[in-house]
Amino acid sequence: MISQNTIAKVFETSRVEEVIGDFVQLKKSGSNFKGLSPFTDERSPSFMVSPVKQIWKDFSSGKGGNAVTFLMEHEHFTYPEAIKYLAKKYSIEIEETEQTDEDKEVANERESLYLVNEFANSYFQKVMHKTDQGKAIGLSYFKERGFTDEIIKKFQLGYSLDEWQAFTDESLKQAYKIEFLEKTGLTIVKDEKRFDRFKGRVMFPIHSMSGRVLGFGGRILVNDKKAAKYLNSPESEVYHKSKVLYGLYFAKQSIAKEDNCYLVEGYTDVIQFVQTGVHNVVSSSGTALTPEQIRLINRLTSNITVLFDGDAAGLRASVRGIDLILEQGMNVKVCTFPEGEDPDSFAKQNTLEELKTYLDENAQDFISFKASLLMKEAQNDPIKKAETIRDMVNSIAIIPDAIKREIYIQECSKIMDISEEVLFSTLAQINKKNITEASKQVKTEQKAFEVIKTEKKSAPRIDRQYELERKIIEILLLYGDKKESFEDLVLKENEKTGELELEPVIQEAHVYEKIYLDLQEDEMQFTNENFKTLYYSLVDKLNQDQSFSIKEFIGQLNQDMAEEVTSILMEEERYALHDWERKHIIPKTKLKTIPQLVNQTVLSLRCYLIDKKVQDYQHETTLENANSSGILEDVKDYLGLKMLLSRKLGKVVGGRV
Ligand code: CTP
Ligand code: MN
Repeated sequence: MISQNTIAKVFETSRVEEVIGDFVQLKKSGSNFKGLSPFTDERSPSFMVSPVKQIWKDFSSGKGGNAVTFLMEHEHFTYPEAIKYLAKKYSIEIEETEQTDEDKEVANERESLYLVNEFANSYFQKVMHKTDQGKAIGLSYFKERGFTDEIIKKFQLGYSLDEWQAFTDESLKQAYKIEFLEKTGLTIVKDEKRFDRFKGRVMFPIHSMSGRVLGFGGRILVNDKKAAKYLNSPESEVYHKSKVLYGLYFAKQSIAKEDNCYLVEGYTDVIQFVQTGVHNVVSSSGTALTPEQIRLINRLTSNITVLFDGDAAGLRASVRGIDLILEQGMNVKVCTFPEGEDPDSFAKQNTLEELKTYLDENAQDFISFKASLLMKEAQNDPIKKAETIRDMVNSIAIIPDAIKREIYIQECSKIMDISEEVLFSTLAQINKKNITEASKQVKTEQKAFEVIKTEKKSAPRIDRQYELERKIIEILLLYGDKKESFEDLVLKENEKTGELELEPVIQEAHVYEKIYLDLQEDEMQFTNENFKTLYYSLVDKLNQDQSFSIKEFIGQLNQDMAEEVTSILMEEERYALHDWERKHIIPKTKLKTIPQLVNQTVLSLRCYLIDKKVQDYQHETTLENANSSGILEDVKDYLGLKMLLSRKLGKVVGGRV
């Protein structure tokens, strides 16, 4: 277990904007940062980070929290994983409290898989640098490829001995369990026998966006027609091929900075590019590009340049996948290399300047590129040409931005020598078809909805009580620990006239004390479960701690509560996101002082509750039982109290204070 001391230090040191900045491209917006939600597939930013409050809020998915909850949501870290990640990022030494055998037992499976992968990663590197076979075969192979020592270290390249179970034996000796060796795919278990999957291969570890080892690619070194040149780790609980991009861990900052991402075919292309000095490069190791992978890039930039080998054969097939990128609203360029060259060989033979110039001069907009490519193929074949036009317009139709679509239609009209009208009418046909299909889908969804009664736990009721309870939590969060002079109005008998009057009495109190005592007076209970929990933990915390910190408080909440708190705190920020939204909001009459705010909120809530009580009575009362049950008396009392409170409220709101 990580010690409380370490956890506290981590919370103190970490800056939410720095932590999130490693994953999401953040732009300054007033006192906040904003960016594209990493949790949804959006095109206009609704993701907010507040450096002042040290929290984040994603308005499109509703998630929110602090730096730790971000890592748990985004990287799917467990709490200890997130703390460890932050400790590493900020070079904080981790103090561990003694682990019992039982603790070790429950350390979850995912963590075990990561540990095995991390062990394997350092083992393969050690084997390559420290053993004779490793140096003679593995290291010399990489050197022959032209990789420098520095780049070999950076990408943590390694070598797996050409023996049946050297790695497996060593892992078992180090007390790693065979169960996890098998689940990561590093060991293949067949009956009683165990084999190293990557026997005799050079190793490329595949990192998550945060730098953990998820799996490996291994390249064979001998000429063997039967064995695959590249072998990859199988899917596991920590390695999902479709959601990983090779090189992204090293490239993410550069992609955001350059505002462009180069997409290449494989490991060696990525490494050679980085060695040459182009850092914003990733590959989708061995599989076709997936929407999840595009989304990973889209968080960092909306520009992608796909690099193709010189051979024309593979080109047509690869071009298909690019529609996926367009569909996500990204700007796609493509760049091909001269006949017989791939990004790896080209980068190796050229200087950084030459490579950059080549990329700049030869990167072409994808739509024009595709149009030219297809036209060349269809030149003298009218049927093929018609097909090509449809194909092109299909690509254009999926671009979300209408203006871009129009520009592309004009462009294609020139390249393919066909009138804009024809292209536009084809586009209209396709759109119509898509709309009909989409509406069909909506209809079936609605049906499904009718069957499943919405048993989902209450979406927050937007009513007056909800708003007021929420406001109280907000006040406690922001001002709970402040000491203020409250002007309370108490009923006093006027000595001369004998009438009851409201008289101001000044009392000093902490905001939380004032709220707590006022609410207790009415035995008021929160109706919203989240608010109720937050209320009691806030009061409790404020009561114990002289120095209350929101950041620390959120750190101790579970995900649900942390989300609730951040959504409360980020309310104002939300309207800053979309200026137009502000127009629909009646400007909040800002109260001048905290005591005014407290009094107004508490009194409003009390008035509201009394109204509700009275209404309840009215519902259950009939003329016959009214008198007998004494209910009328109660109602009269309540109405009296209500009048009194209303008068107080009137004074507060219209008041001088
Ligand atoms: N690749 C792959 N699986 C394969 C072949 C290739 O994943 N079966 C990927 C690798 O990541 C590799 C890239 O595609 O880096 C380029 O392929 P290729 O040129 O065939 O691999 P190299 O290792 O460069 O082989 P060679 O030395 O023969 O060029
Ligand atoms: Mn190659």
